[in-house]
Amino acid sequence: MSAPTLELGVNIDHVATLRQARYRDQPTEGPRRVEPDPVAAALACEAAGCHGITAHLREDRRHIIDRDVRRLREAIRTRLNFEMAITPEIVAFALDIKPDIVCIVPERREEVTTEGGLEVVGHEEAITATCARMRDAGITTSLFIGPDPAQISAAARAGADAIELHTGRYGDHWHLKRERNDEIQRLVAAARQAHELGLQVNAGHGLNVENLPLIHLVPHLVELNIGHSIVSRAVFIGLDAAVKEMLKAMEGYPG
Ligand code: PXP
Repeated sequence: MSAPTLELGVNIDHVATLRQARYRDQPTEGPRRVEPDPVAAALACEAAGCHGITAHLREDRRHIIDRDVRRLREAIRTRLNFEMAITPEIVAFALDIKPDIVCIVPERREEVTTEGGLEVVGHEEAITATCARMRDAGITTSLFIGPDPAQISAAARAGADAIELHTGRYGDHWHLKRERNDEIQRLVAAARQAHELGLQVNAGHGLNVENLPLIHLVPHLVELNIGHSIVSRAVFIGLDAAVKEMLKAMEGYPG
């Protein structure tokens, strides 16, 4: 049997971050050139061979804005993974635009990026209700969580289809051999547990071509969601080459 293909979802929020740095206070439509366009970036990533596009509509709209998500929904031909906190406004928006997948993430206004995993334990009722609403609308649900056995059990109880393992701690400690190996062991155990519970296993945050090879040790992965390092590399080598470079680093995943 041939090895499974590890799939790549490109997080294009970082393209919108660049646009908002200049054009935050201006209309995104009209005769003026407002760049860079995250939808054009998403189409370039698809042309380079990625398997999905990921976008996070934050409550403060600091990068992706509502119109971007609507345009992505219309334009992309792969799948749309919509990252969201479960506030009533954003849940209603998701049900309206119907992404292929919603990935429920924690959100704190003061954070630079999604720093921790979702606390499913303690918020099980709200998360279970949201998973059910999404399922009824035909939308797959994923929960962004750390490699913590209690959170994984709670994700299964909440009725999620998938988890996305938060690899941020691994990325942050990659230069420290013992810490990174400990974190890989936690990710391996978490992936096994989730798989046994029938959850699809994805991973993401803080991954780059340098730290990706050790991620191949984590079993049962279906998809990686990667943004910052791809967009950063694109500044030097272009988006097409940056996506292809990442896909190359993901090749040979043993499953
Ligand atoms: N997955 C989730 C749930 C995220 O919040 C992010 C960050 O935007 C990513 C993946 C991608 O992380 P990075 O930009 O560090 O590759």
